[in-house]
Amino acid sequence: MYWKTPLQATFLLPFLYSTVTAQVACNNSPQLCNRPYSNITHLGAHNSPFLRDESTSFSTSGNQYFDTITQLEAGVRLLTAQVHKLNNTEGNQAWHLCHSSCDLLDAGTLQDWLSKIKTWMDSNPNDVVTLVLVNSDDATPQDLGPLFQLSGIDKYAYTPTSSPPSNGVWPTLNALIQANKRLITFVASITPSPQFPYLLDEFSFVFENNFENESPTDFSCTPNRPSGLGTPEQALATGRMFLMNHFLYQAQIFGIQTPDEENVNVTNAQSGRGALGTQLRNCATQQGGRPPTFVIVDFFNVGPAVASVDAVNGVQGSVVGRRTLTDKVVMGSTSGVEGSVVKGKGSLVAVVVAVVVLVGLGV
Ligand SMILES: *[C@@H]1O[C@H](CO)[C@@H](O)[C@H](O)[C@H]1NC(C)=O
Ligand SMILES: *[C@@H]1O[C@H](CO)[C@@H](O)[C@H](O)[C@H]1NC(C)=O
Ligand SMILES: *[C@@H]1O[C@H](CO)[C@@H](O)[C@H](O)[C@H]1NC(C)=O
Repeated sequence: MYWKTPLQATFLLPFLYSTVTAQVACNNSPQLCNRPYSNITHLGAHNSPFLRDESTSFSTSGNQYFDTITQLEAGVRLLTAQVHKLNNTEGNQAWHLCHSSCDLLDAGTLQDWLSKIKTWMDSNPNDVVTLVLVNSDDATPQDLGPLFQLSGIDKYAYTPTSSPPSNGVWPTLNALIQANKRLITFVASITPSPQFPYLLDEFSFVFENNFENESPTDFSCTPNRPSGLGTPEQALATGRMFLMNHFLYQAQIFGIQTPDEENVNVTNAQSGRGALGTQLRNCATQQGGRPPTFVIVDFFNVGPAVASVDAVNGVQGSVVGRRTLTDKVVMGSTSGVEGSVVKGKGSLVAVVVAVVVLVGLGV
């Protein structure tokens, strides 16, 4: 389209301006901008960097089909990972993202992952991202903080003014965006340091339900970690936010558990027994009508999980700037027979390695 005369273009400017203003979205919806960070539901990718794709020969340990950046593009705003200490080939120690053990699935260094997220945040200035890092080898703030600095992501890191906010109310998304402090980092667990104050001890701010479930009937809204919080309402009264674990494990031979791909179309569905949508509503009911602040799922594209989150946020119809992915299970590669062979090989390797790990532990 072009304008016939400058006059016509000038005449239209105010309308163009107001259209643009109206479409400014925070975490994909204009309706979320003025709501407190603590009063929306953030969709989380459980074990975000641990993939079941070509890069891992379709490892059965993988929790997601799409990588971290694709997750963010598709609406995920919380990323979890496990941080492990690894001795590299040069004999130096490095902090890696590994699934249970670095022999089982090593997704590279924490610093590289943070750099990728930082680059995405650079080009998405209206988005607030949350990290939940499982501190598997007791890293200190002095171990992790420098990696946040080297990646450059520390410039976005937010530090709350108290721990937890006494009434449990956090700044609005808009306030975090205007301050350009758009990264919230929880570590499970860590002793806070004034040198890196944005590395927050998760369980001082957050409570979770049980995460080890193998059946849709196992899902519960009862606070499980930290211990001693009582009922969901009592836990909320401490000022902590609720993180709902909503994924299933499948029992394999030798007591090994793998992410349950077989039932994920039900687990991540909007309705039905043990479905994501159902559990979000159940837990809201048990918490005085307040839905969970965070929910983490495996294979987030299936469902799609984001549809249930949009529903509890009440933003259906106002969502913008999101990439759409398949909402189905992604079996092996798209190349048919070859894909299923690759998948089989990946599964076998994962089981063999897991057995070696168990034997090594004397289990
Ligand atoms: C959360 O936001 C919803 C929707 O704007 C609002 O109805 C509700 O009162 C808010 N709750 C709290 C605790 O801020
Ligand atoms: C890494 O190296 C340290 C020091 O050499 C050693 O104590 C530790 O056991 C090693 N860890 C692993 C997982 O190999
Ligand atoms: C889940 O997938 C199974 C097997 O493909 C199918 O029978 C079932 O109807 C699906 N359920 C939902 C809720 O999509």
